[in-house]
Amino acid sequence: MNKVAITGSNGLLGQSLLNLLLLEKEKYQVFGLSRGKNRSGRSDFSYISIDITDEKKLKKILLEIQPNFIINTAAMTQVDDCEINKKACDVLNIDVVKWLAEVSNKINAHLIHISTDFIFDGKKGYYKETDAPNPLSYYGLSKLKSEEVLLTSKTHFTILRTILVYGKVFDMSRSNIVLWVKTMLAQNKQITIVDDQFRMPTYVEDLALACKISIDKKATGIYNISSNQLLSIYKIAQQIADVFQLNKNLIKPISTSTLNQRAARPTKTGFDLTKSKTELGFLPKPFKEDLKRFKETLK
Ligand SMILES: NC(=O)c1ccc[n+]([C@@H]2O[C@H](COP(=O)([O-])OP(=O)(O)OC[C@H]3O[C@@H](n4cnc5c(N)ncnc54)[C@H](OP(=O)(O)O)[C@@H]3O)[C@@H](O)[C@H]2O)c1
Repeated sequence: MNKVAITGSNGLLGQSLLNLLLLEKEKYQVFGLSRGKNRSGRSDFSYISIDITDEKKLKKILLEIQPNFIINTAAMTQVDDCEINKKACDVLNIDVVKWLAEVSNKINAHLIHISTDFIFDGKKGYYKETDAPNPLSYYGLSKLKSEEVLLTSKTHFTILRTILVYGKVFDMSRSNIVLWVKTMLAQNKQITIVDDQFRMPTYVEDLALACKISIDKKATGIYNISSNQLLSIYKIAQQIADVFQLNKNLIKPISTSTLNQRAARPTKTGFDLTKSKTELGFLPKPFKEDLKRFKETLK
């Protein structure tokens, strides 16, 4: 039996992981650590309400649980907020990872951590795990530093880098590209979407599956996890309209420069998925196929 502790169990990935691992209760004993009340809609796991930026409390709880695996899904993910609130970003995105690595090392647990395409500058695209990072934003820099914490620690770890995660779980504190576009178009509202940034979006259930595979294989090192076609965000929105049979004409292309966002975004990310396919057996698909699977779950 694997004892698995999930930080951020109220989040999009956190709840997807609960739903996946709790299908096999004989294999995984699950502990969810998140702030406030348990918002997963499930009660068949141990929920611990905690602010994980409280170092003492976090370490005490994990030492009590003694998990074999810790999956760190909690992070400050709002890119512009990180630019404004650098201190809070540092604590959650870097210091917490340091503390988790220290505990993991002490109890010989395996730490699975989630990182991002935003560690790259977006000039090249189709990034390999070994390509040189060059973050443009404070968020990207903080996630790169979190990777460095693990790379220089003695802990057993997996880093899963991912891109533009979407999906739907029981009670969500924030939306994502697919839900947002779908909701706006369903309300007949016109939306503007950048056509000069390129991504490979990730269905949250695939990312959760990659976490589970990382447990089962005790995978070590860095792996890329996303869908397998690089699309402009405008094209992504159009495919959402196609799959959900909504009015594409409501989507208007704009360029990034008109947005005046605080944090710079990489132009072209996307991953080379060779390593995760060969070593993890990960099976990436085109965005539209993933979207159709996602649509089925909404019925
Ligand atoms: N979403 C993306 O597009 C994307 C892209 C690339 C990489 N990633 C990475 O993927 C991971 C998972 O992202 P996600 O979309 O699942 O994020 P999410 O939905 O925002 O989930 C994060 C969860 O962590 C909780 N949390 C935040 N601070 C906490 C604290 N101090 N103590 C306890 N819990 C705390 C949040 O609580 P509340 O619900 O109360 O806020 C939330 O439930 C992150 O590491 C992120 O950097 C995400």
